[in-house]
Amino acid sequence: MTHNKIQELTVEWKSPSNLAIVKYWGKRDVQFPLNPSISFSLKNAVTTTRVTAKPSEQGGFTFSLDGNMKETFNKKIANLLQLSSSTLPFITTHHLTIESSNTFPHSSGIASSASSMSALALCLADLQLLVDNEPNHNLDIKKVSELSRLGSGSAARSLYGGWTIWGETTAIADSSDNYAVELPNIHPNFMQIANAILIIEPKSKKVSSSQGHALMNNHPYGAARIKQANDNTELLLEILESGDWNKFFDIAENEALSLHALMMSSNPGYTLLHPNSLKVIEEVRKARLEQNLPVGFSMDAGPNVHLLYPKYEEAKILPWIENTIRPLCHQHNIIFDELGEGPERTDINY
Ligand code: PMV
Repeated sequence: MTHNKIQELTVEWKSPSNLAIVKYWGKRDVQFPLNPSISFSLKNAVTTTRVTAKPSEQGGFTFSLDGNMKETFNKKIANLLQLSSSTLPFITTHHLTIESSNTFPHSSGIASSASSMSALALCLADLQLLVDNEPNHNLDIKKVSELSRLGSGSAARSLYGGWTIWGETTAIADSSDNYAVELPNIHPNFMQIANAILIIEPKSKKVSSSQGHALMNNHPYGAARIKQANDNTELLLEILESGDWNKFFDIAENEALSLHALMMSSNPGYTLLHPNSLKVIEEVRKARLEQNLPVGFSMDAGPNVHLLYPKYEEAKILPWIENTIRPLCHQHNIIFDELGEGPERTDINY
């Protein structure tokens, strides 16, 4: 019994969700993106995952979220474990107890697959180091990003603090479809980006992101989308260096609206916007034009809207959010977040 106890290994990692400004939409094979995407890591929206590995000839795993067994996620986890087992052989010789918790509500429109799959990939890569007797936790982050990608594409971008690019582009020398890399040369303005997540409609999404990506196969605007995303990537890289908020909002909004336009024009077509999503969009544009407020928006594949603004201007923005925007949210619900510093390992006393 004591013998088994000694062989049990536990690691715990906290990893953030991220918000893409240039969107990943459409994939080939096992989560290779059709276009490059650029995102920043969030600070408060994080998943904490603890994995305990116990030697077992059968392998296998159990998964719980906030202390409850959650079978809905088992398929995604089993898939990641299976795809990782060639690079992380301990997976086939250990039973894994995976315990996760999120700081944000499920179905809040925050991508929980990005934080949860990256937290799990970090734990798995770290456990392999421990099994191999390399206890210094010296992880190869590109490799972990690649593992995360196998779990969920957007998770590849959660391994770094600040700004990240995933997907090959000639504009960034070490960019890759396999993994994400950190973006250098970010203007200090954009290291202080704030994100107010407006809960417009908390019900689960009508289209899963896997279904959504599949809609890009044979999409009538497929080739044009790939060109648009590559052009927006190049433009955004310049803007992130120059610090120009208005140009930044133009790209963020163009990407968000294009994502929804692509969903509407696919076959079958989906309308994921809620009437209040449209009202918010109108108010954001009015605030920028009429009140000169430095605020813009992004959206993922759902009705919730992400307001974007400089944290150092929040004294100007927050009263407008409270008066004009909060009444448009479901039960007046808003989650405030901002750019974060990336994953963190919990020190566990063995
Ligand atoms: O990682 P997935 O398969 O959940 O895809 C995420 C897709 C978007 O959130 C809509 C865009 C993105 O780049 O995060």
